[in-house]
Amino acid sequence: MRDFLTALPCIRWMRPLAVKLEWGRENVLSIKGRFNGTLRVKGNNNRIQIPASTSFRGHIFVQGNNVTVTIGEHCRLAADIVVKGSNQTVTIGEGTTFASVYLLCIEASHIRIGRWCMFSREIEVRTSDAHSLLDRKTGKRLNPAASVTIGDHVWVGVGSIINKGTTIADDCVVGAKSFVNKPFAESGSLIAGVPAKVIKKGVTWHRGRKRKFSPAEMDVWRLPPNDL
Ligand SMILES: CC(C)(COP(=O)(O)OP(=O)(O)OC[C@H]1O[C@@H](n2cnc3c(N)ncnc32)[C@H](O)[C@@H]1OP(=O)(O)O)[C@@H](O)C(=O)NCCC(=O)NCCS
Repeated sequence: MRDFLTALPCIRWMRPLAVKLEWGRENVLSIKGRFNGTLRVKGNNNRIQIPASTSFRGHIFVQGNNVTVTIGEHCRLAADIVVKGSNQTVTIGEGTTFASVYLLCIEASHIRIGRWCMFSREIEVRTSDAHSLLDRKTGKRLNPAASVTIGDHVWVGVGSIINKGTTIADDCVVGAKSFVNKPFAESGSLIAGVPAKVIKKGVTWHRGRKRKFSPAEMDVWRLPPNDL
C-alpha cells in the first residue's frame, strides 16, 4: 500500500486551467506566468521556469533527471514540449512567440531558441528522428541525434520542420513548409525548401506591415531588453 501511495504523482492545480503532475524529488517547477495545459515531470532534479510576464498554452512533459526548461520574459507560446533523457536543456529566449509548435528534445541533446523569434503554426523542432535509419551492410545507425540552435529574431514559416543538427543564425527567415536539417551560419538569410537552402541574402523581417521600414525599426530587436 505504501509503495502504491509513493508511486502516485504529486498533483497541483494551477491557474487559470492547468494541472501539474510530478513524480520524483528535488524538482523546481517555477511557473509564475499564465499557464494553460499540463505540466508532467517524471524524475529528479529537473528545473522548469516560466516567468510572470510569459504565457504558455499546451503541454510540457519531462522524463529524466537534471533537465532544464527555461523560458524567457514576455513570451507567448502555444506548444508541446517533450524532453526525454537526462542533463538536457531547452531554452527559449525572451519575447519569442509560437502559434503552434512541437519541440522534441531526446537522446542527450539540447534545443536553444533565441530572443524575439516568431514561429508560425504546425512547426516541429526535433533533435532526433525518433527511430533509427540503418546501413544494411554494417547495421550501423546513420541518423544520430544532434542539438538544434536557433539564433535571435528568426521567423519560421508555417508548417516547417527544423530537424536534428540545425543551426540558424540571427535574423533569418525560414519559408513555409521548409525542411531544415543543417547549419545556416549567415545572418540575414532567407532559407526555404525541402531540403532548405539559402534562397536570398541580406534580408530581415518585421511583425508589422507597411511599404517601408526605417533602419531603427528594422534593428529594434537588437536593443538590450530594458530599452525595448
Ligand atoms: C519566405 C517568404 C516570406 C518569401 O516571400 P517572397 O519574398 O514574396 O517570396 P517570392 O514568392 O517572391 O519567392 C522568391 C523565391 O523564393 C522561392 N520561395 C519562396 N518561399 C518558398 C518556400 N516556402 N519554399 C520554397 N521556395 C520558396 C520562390 O519559389 C521564389 O523562387 P524563384 O525566384 O526561383 O522563382 C514566403 O514565401 C513564405 O514562405 N511565407 C510564409 C509566411 C508564413 O508562414 N506566415 C505565417 C504567419 S507567421
